[in-house]
Amino acid sequence: MGSISIKTAEDIEGMRIAGKLAAEVLDFIAPHVVAGISTGELDKLCHDYMVDVQQCIPAPLNYCPPGYTPYPKSICTSINDVVCHGIPGDKVLKNGDAVNLDITVIKNGYHGDTSRMFYVGEPSILAKRLGDITYDCMWLGISKIRPGAHLGDIGHVIQQHAEAAGFSVVREFCGHGIGKVFHEEPQVLHYGRPGTLAELRAGMIFTVEPMINAGRREIREMGDGWTIKTRDRSLSAQWEHTVLVTETGFEVLTISPEMPAPPSFIKEHHAGSIAALA
Ligand code: MF3
Ligand code: CO
Ligand code: CO
Repeated sequence: MGSISIKTAEDIEGMRIAGKLAAEVLDFIAPHVVAGISTGELDKLCHDYMVDVQQCIPAPLNYCPPGYTPYPKSICTSINDVVCHGIPGDKVLKNGDAVNLDITVIKNGYHGDTSRMFYVGEPSILAKRLGDITYDCMWLGISKIRPGAHLGDIGHVIQQHAEAAGFSVVREFCGHGIGKVFHEEPQVLHYGRPGTLAELRAGMIFTVEPMINAGRREIREMGDGWTIKTRDRSLSAQWEHTVLVTETGFEVLTISPEMPAPPSFIKEHHAGSIAALA
């Protein structure tokens, strides 16, 4: 086991810039998420925005962790029963689809990583409820972040909320430390026990990105080597922010003008932690 890096003031400024740029890609693409567009077209729009407008590098493109083939596209598009890492292509969005768009940019060497759920037309009651519970899971996890807290505190509150709603938490994928490296220590599990695992210290930066299934938690990998689906074909949802541990709590780095508002339990107690609200 290595250790969790503590970012310098310079690193933190670089991560604020990268986080904002990643969130702004989601703001940019939101109006394009409509029936009839293909996931490949969404990828191309985002790719061109990142490269030509933001002068960023799309981190997923050719990303090749050990045991994987290089990821062939610039974003991830995960529809309905796709848990994560859906590869953009010819698939056309249709009314009722629930899709996660996951954006990671590299700016001046620093990574910003964030994802949101989008609905095409009217979502089913279940898809909306799953997306809403997953959103609250992400923010409940984030709300635990402060020096002296433990990673297990984050996982526990996420698991409690998801399972109380009758949903399940994916175990095989987790949040992650992030900085000049896309995926670094620690692993941020979305299940667990309070007071366990690493103690948080100011200057750590990691993502919180729960994947919550409407049915059973088991997954299966598709033949493309990347796409992950629920084994029982139930719906899956995910939201993601990149977060800094501050001296007093947390600072969400992946903020943008049109990011969805945090739940009211966050607004009340942590408004100063989200610059967009301050
Ligand atoms: N953005 C994903 C995450 O949140 C990772 C995607 S890796 C890719 O960690 F290669 F599929 F893009
Ligand atoms: Co991530
Ligand atoms: Co991501």
